[in-house]
Amino acid sequence: MVKIAPSILAADPINLERDVRRAVEAGCDWIHVDVMDAHFVPNLAYSPDTVRRLRAVFGIPLDVHLMMDNPEELLEAFLDAGASNITVHAEIGDMSGILKRIHKAGASAGIALKPATPAEAVKPYLEKAELILAMTVEPGFGGQKLDEHVIRKIGEIRKMGYRGEIEADGGIREDNLQMLTENGLTAAVMGTALFRNEDMKAAIERMHRL
Ligand code: DX5
Ligand code: ZN
Repeated sequence: MVKIAPSILAADPINLERDVRRAVEAGCDWIHVDVMDAHFVPNLAYSPDTVRRLRAVFGIPLDVHLMMDNPEELLEAFLDAGASNITVHAEIGDMSGILKRIHKAGASAGIALKPATPAEAVKPYLEKAELILAMTVEPGFGGQKLDEHVIRKIGEIRKMGYRGEIEADGGIREDNLQMLTENGLTAAVMGTALFRNEDMKAAIERMHRL
């Protein structure tokens, strides 16, 4: 069953609790939290305090996506706040130390790849990361169109023998999800397509049956 992780970037910031509760009651598997530092990406979003409050109110796993030039500076803050999984971008350089610190805190670790970054970039970490996130849009904003070139990369990572979670993020909708799962995807981040859906529960049930 493909896991569905609503991205709260598409939720109403004024009614965040209401929208997250709607997603949790609709049967999502994780909550995806996009953290942006206005450097790695041209946008700014979410802090450790947001994660702390989500952790305090909702028991659901928190999938934290760090789009930051220096994630190591706030790693402990997000771990202390209750992140279940922390994903860092391969484009920032060697991540061995960061992965070790995430595991030491008892959380799972993910590696993200921008659309233009080749699958080979994850090779050194195949045994060290529980999750690989293949960005299907250029990171920084929701509501973009899915880049179908990335589907091939998902298959390439599976062919490398990776057995962990492969997650995709950006432009995923109910009508393009199957072509991702057929290539080895096991978790889908969805922002606009879910939070704009009047019957989120029925949509998640259908996607879980894929
Ligand atoms: C973009 C973020 C995504 C985004 C997904 O940089 O990482 O999580 O919010 O939103 P949609 O599904 O609307 O593309
Ligand atoms: Zn994301």
